[in-house]
Amino acid sequence: MNTVVSEHLGTDIPGPQPVPVLGWLPGLLRFAWNPLRSLEDLSEQYGNILRLGIKNYPVILIFHPDYNRQILRDPSTFYSYNLDLLPIPFPKDSSIKRATTGMPLMNGPRHTDHRSVLLPYFHKKFITRYHDSCIEVTERKLASWQPGMEVNLRREMEQLAMWLATEPVLGLDPQSEGDAIGRQLERTMKLVMNPFVLMFPYNIPGIPFHNLMRNAEEMERIVRQVIARKKEAGLTGHDILSVMLRMHEENPERLSEDELIGHTTTMFRGGYNPSGMALYWTIFLLSQHPDEMTKVLEELDELVKGDSPTEQEVENMPYLEGALKEAMRLFPAGTWTGRLAMQDFSLDSHRFSKGTWVMMSPYITHRIPELFPEPYKFRPERWLSIHPSAYEFMPFSAGPRYCIGASLALMQLKIALTIIFKRFRFTLKPGTKLDCVGFNSIRPKHGLPMILSSPDQELRSVAFQGNVRRIVHFG
Ligand code: HEM
Repeated sequence: MNTVVSEHLGTDIPGPQPVPVLGWLPGLLRFAWNPLRSLEDLSEQYGNILRLGIKNYPVILIFHPDYNRQILRDPSTFYSYNLDLLPIPFPKDSSIKRATTGMPLMNGPRHTDHRSVLLPYFHKKFITRYHDSCIEVTERKLASWQPGMEVNLRREMEQLAMWLATEPVLGLDPQSEGDAIGRQLERTMKLVMNPFVLMFPYNIPGIPFHNLMRNAEEMERIVRQVIARKKEAGLTGHDILSVMLRMHEENPERLSEDELIGHTTTMFRGGYNPSGMALYWTIFLLSQHPDEMTKVLEELDELVKGDSPTEQEVENMPYLEGALKEAMRLFPAGTWTGRLAMQDFSLDSHRFSKGTWVMMSPYITHRIPELFPEPYKFRPERWLSIHPSAYEFMPFSAGPRYCIGASLALMQLKIALTIIFKRFRFTLKPGTKLDCVGFNSIRPKHGLPMILSSPDQELRSVAFQGNVRRIVHFG
């Protein structure tokens, strides 16, 4: 790594330059169109650190784990992006502002305080109470599946993940209540990601910004209804929403009503959104790697005696866990993330000014060949012998803001996958073109059509096309 001492607040670091007349626009459009390709090209061309000097927003991109460590370990210097720090003109007193201001976007002592109250409810010992409900909702999902059926695995797993998150986060019935909140949340989040919202931030009927405001209001209305019902029923539950409600009732100064709305929506979405991706990508990758699938099945046969795993059995399934980690390495839920420097700082002997945005990319770090040989290949067995640091393998981020739900998610994913693999085999629908999209995540653009079969069916991979082949190298 570089050891040059810079007196130029980062300006001596190489990076792309704006083009005449159009400035940064072509680069930004290219990034918006194909973020993964842009990140790969930038890391190939400039190495582990590069600079983008977009007008008043100095930005550096870093890929090396040592850099990730320095940034992620220090949340008091490097703030998570909250909406007040971004040039997005959401009205101060609006539903969209409340709904998007949850724990992942909070900073400072208030974030530390809220996190410390909720942390015990995500402790390994505590989350085992969701073991049985996890089995129950997975079985509920599979009840409509039959061998020979074609399913859109993306849609099915997104729904299963939503159901899995409903009880721990909201303490509600997944199908009758979790689904409705999740659907409204997705409608709203789709609009938040719409570039036209930023380009035309005017609350005029008919344009995306206005639709976003209306959808966020509807979502807030639904969440407030749930809160009112829970209060009426008495706040005895152990779900996260009940815990937060008790905290709010005891001391509204400590956790305000606005924060309650934000925590509820961001925690629920944070709970189901990445889990859905982990489920469908793991199943897809195993379906295209019959030898690896065979090893997972042999492990489950040997180590899980019943149709679903016991609490002890979940703790001991190294090959399935390897497949899951490998899927999260290749398809991290967040392909890039950012922090804002609240004071001047040094990185590898370079100096940077307060106000610099620091962007990191688990997608690129997970593909550093010195850390993960043959990085574009799906190799679950590598996890039997490697133990990367939290800053090398970071699907759940790292440091003091490490995903609070990581243990819960891993438990749920292993239980769900075990039950699924004990009952079904998966073959990609022949002729599928698997193109991926996503500004900050990787999703199959047209769904993931899979043919279900019974466990006695021979495993086989299927030829397919699509840009997913740039993300993983098959064969
Ligand atoms: C496979 C499943 C999951 C993945 C891959 C994942 C990933 C992540 C990542 C990458 C972050 C950090 C975001 C950043 O710093 O930019 C994060 C934070 C967070 N996640 Fe998860 N997550 C998962 C499941 C869950 C679940 C099940 C819950 C709760 C029910 C949850 C709740 C949270 C919360 C509250 C934060 C914010 C933590 C903080 O700022 O202190 N996540 N997650």
